[in-house]
Amino acid sequence: MIKVAFFDSKEYDKREFDAVKGSLEIEYFETKLRPATAHLAEGFDCVCIFVNDNANAETLKILKKVGVKLIALRCSGYNNVDMDEAKRLGLPVVRVPAYSPEAVAEHAIAMLLTLNRKIHRAYIRTRDFNFSLSGLEGFVLHGKTMGVIGTGKIGQAFVRIARGFGMNVLCYDPYPAGGFDYVDLNTLFKESDIISLHCPLTEESKYLINEAAIRKMKKGVILINTSRGGLIESDALLNGLIKGKIGGACLDVYEEESDYFYEDNSAKGMSDETLALIISRPNVILTSHQAYFTREALGEIARCTVDQIREQLKR
Ligand code: NAI
Repeated sequence: MIKVAFFDSKEYDKREFDAVKGSLEIEYFETKLRPATAHLAEGFDCVCIFVNDNANAETLKILKKVGVKLIALRCSGYNNVDMDEAKRLGLPVVRVPAYSPEAVAEHAIAMLLTLNRKIHRAYIRTRDFNFSLSGLEGFVLHGKTMGVIGTGKIGQAFVRIARGFGMNVLCYDPYPAGGFDYVDLNTLFKESDIISLHCPLTEESKYLINEAAIRKMKKGVILINTSRGGLIESDALLNGLIKGKIGGACLDVYEEESDYFYEDNSAKGMSDETLALIISRPNVILTSHQAYFTREALGEIARCTVDQIREQLKR
């Protein structure tokens, strides 16, 4: 029997994993994995973690010590795992390389359309029988230039949709694929009306969008980030929004999100002042890392994760 310690679990995870777990024995912990909670994995063969669990070197050492043999990420990004330390400890790490690129691309577009056409503000107004259009003006996407950073599975799905709107799409990726118009990063910054991030968070891509990058962009540029919060320097973003250099931001991720996302903080208030100020701006839409959150993706994540655990720990 393979025993799995499942961290940061929600009712929808339990529902999907229980449906496909077969002979795996899964214990669902609500807490996130971090050094202080790693000991909970004692007696388990595998830990199953998500985007805001923290598998740093300290956590991994404890997991190894208590007998864990496999780290199974139920997501595609793996920036929250110290991969060098995992290798050193001989702890294999598996992830779900692709579950529904369209889910993320569609969410990015949903946020863009909402922000640009001010649907979020119109929704609140009409519920209050306020039918004024003042301040709700948007712009037409057709003919505008979309800059896409990272043309992997999600980036490519996003490009297909943007082209469907009749947009001119410029791309940047250190490993270009066929069929896209690639430019260097500076040209992309300079020429794009909207910029969408679809690259992983690595040492090289951390703070890809910083003060210097924002300076190169068009006034009024809209930024979309459904990738990882650390790609954008939050203070630089806030500054750009305040000065009007950035016309709007669609954010599904935030660099310090692990302290807040996926939890109800409404009674506590927000202690991260930068996040509070970003959210308070009328030209920002922020969702809580939910771009993947579709029926299709949840099912695929559960199936793929369970298969990988079985394959790795063959028992
Ligand atoms: P992928 O591995 O298919 O594509 C990533 C692309 O980024 C590759 O083409 C790679 O060459 C490129 N890249 C790497 N470093 C780059 C850099 N410095 N600048 C520009 N491009 C760079 O990954 P996929 O499936 O498209 O996912 C992309 C990211 O989306 C993931 O790393 C993850 O962080 C994020 N994600 C977010 C989700 C959400 O719910 N918000 C769900 C799933 C993924």
